[in-house]
Amino acid sequence: MHDVLLVTGGAGFIGSNFVIDWLSCESAKLVNLDRLTYAGNLQNLSSVLDDERHELVVGNINDSQLLSGIFQRHQPRALIHFAAESHVDRSIYGPEEFVETNVVGTFRLLSAALEYWRALPLSDRGRFRFVHVSTDEVYGSLAENDELFTEETAYAPNSPYAASKASSDHFVRAFHHTYGLPAIITNCSNNYGPRQFPEKLIPLMIVNALAAKPLPIYGDGENVRDWLHVADHCAALRRILADGRPGETYNIGGGNEKTNLEVVRVVLHCLQELVPRSPGHYEQLVKFVADRPGHDRRYAIDSSKLRSELRWCPEYNFEAGILATVRWYLENTEWLNNVTSGAYKDWVAKNYSVRFGQ
Ligand code: NAD
Ligand code: DAU
Repeated sequence: MHDVLLVTGGAGFIGSNFVIDWLSCESAKLVNLDRLTYAGNLQNLSSVLDDERHELVVGNINDSQLLSGIFQRHQPRALIHFAAESHVDRSIYGPEEFVETNVVGTFRLLSAALEYWRALPLSDRGRFRFVHVSTDEVYGSLAENDELFTEETAYAPNSPYAASKASSDHFVRAFHHTYGLPAIITNCSNNYGPRQFPEKLIPLMIVNALAAKPLPIYGDGENVRDWLHVADHCAALRRILADGRPGETYNIGGGNEKTNLEVVRVVLHCLQELVPRSPGHYEQLVKFVADRPGHDRRYAIDSSKLRSELRWCPEYNFEAGILATVRWYLENTEWLNNVTSGAYKDWVAKNYSVRFGQ
């Protein structure tokens, strides 16, 4: 086994933040397997593309031959699996892609990892780790006064996206239970921060507000999410890679519940501070639109296991994190222009023309 970390999906939002943070604070080499879908972007990795400790492999996690070649060539000591189709609204329009990547892709990755792990010397087998990055959406939806999601909460996925992630979690669990593969599952709440694709709530609001376009709020805007800065998520994953126990699940969350309307107000307040407009300009853009079918009402994470066992604690304050995020989008107009041209326009037309009743 070599001192190499294999990452999948490292050109996406969380993956690229993880890769950049890893290279800045760890010594191990990193091999980054990414298919570069619409959500994967070479520009996300521009600061590390020349780093000789970073090797990008453009390819699909469904390609078993490619996977076994990567394991043989690099002999990684651990793998962290981010690659996925990640947007709930897209899963409503086209669930099959989510089954292909999130379920079949994860299964193929597990199979290749198992084959590699079984051939390792016994002393290395105990040290290998397969960390599967999953979501709190597998637990379903909470009512206002329900207890937070714990690692014991029963799975109740509601969207095709959540169902595909839940299914992948079950395969990871089964590969540990049946074959002994040293795998760990993480279930994290909503992330925000730099390089998030502007199909998701926070960057979409920033992009639309800057263009003086309507800000679409699904339903009554009172749905609650538990927001976590992506850097805090990445720090949690590094702790789990280092000291997490195989066979365990760790919930990761910011303890930071906000309604969508509260989130949008903070974003608009930050925009007013950084790009001032006449009073009420941004707020007037807010528009209530048709709800997401099957829209989960509330997610909220109990991350006390991770906090007590691995001494992790989020560092970002939400308002300061949003201000820094808005600033990042303002300072990265080339990135923004590149990702919002072409196919992005087709997606916006498909998703929002129906919601706006056009
Ligand atoms: P993203 O959509 O921004 O990035 C996904 C990445 O995976 C892209 O780089 C894409 O090119 C790559 N990819 C997709 N299909 C692939 C395939 N078949 N083979 C290889 N690469 C492929 O996603 P994200 O928001 O960064 O999420 C990363 C992971 O974290 C996902 O597994 C997601 O379920 C999970 N997660 C996300 C959040 C969140 O708030 N964004 C919260 C909890 C968990
Ligand atoms: O909880 C973790 C999950 O968070 C991750 O697993 C997913 O990959 C990630 O996309 C995110 O899912 P959400 O559906 O919560 O995120 P999204 O940004 O799409 O939406 C956040 C909330 O905002 C949700 O209640 C829907 C609402 N929304 C979203 C969009 C895009 C709107 O009101 N208007 C919008 O235009």
